[in-house]
Amino acid sequence: MKRYQVRAISIVLCLSMMVFANAGFAKEPLKKERSRSHTEIDPVNTGTYTGEAGKDNFIANCSPCHGETGKGDGALADTLGEGVKPRNLSDANLLSARTDEFLFKVVKSGGVSVGFADAMPSWQETFTDAEIKQIIQYVRKSICKCKYKDK
Ligand code: HEC
Repeated sequence: MKRYQVRAISIVLCLSMMVFANAGFAKEPLKKERSRSHTEIDPVNTGTYTGEAGKDNFIANCSPCHGETGKGDGALADTLGEGVKPRNLSDANLLSARTDEFLFKVVKSGGVSVGFADAMPSWQETFTDAEIKQIIQYVRKSICKCKYKDK
């Protein structure tokens, strides 16, 4: 057998072993792969989390500006000043360009903290970090129905 054939065979063997080894727990490595470049917010209630935990807080506190479906059409939307509109949080293109950390920061520390309008309030006096994470999970799951996508 020629040397390059030996090498080719061992590469094939190696690859198929990798595939084989991965098959048993395919989900875990995939998740880890993703979180290497971007840490997704850990579900607060691991296992039973459905994305609904942040719903009530979203409806009560965010929908007055952002609207119940997040389109930016809440009752206060037209009262924020010249040219200032609540962001359309149902825009999957926009929200999938935002990391969870970024959304967390805007919500916790307010629009000004990331250079947005101060009409977007800071919520750190109102919610715990865990509650803010739940609201963001609700936005991801039910409003934009999107995740962060690395470009
Ligand atoms: C008083 C109105 C108002 C309320 C209430 C409000 N927002 Fe906002 N929000 C805004 C405005 C206005 C902007 C856009 C700021 C800008 O254009 O510079 C914004 C922007 C955002 C963004 C940034 C989106 C992006 O482009 O990355 C997020 C996320 C957000 N709001 C989430 C929330 C959440 C969650 C709540 C409830 C906890 C909330 N907002 C409550 C007015 C509001």
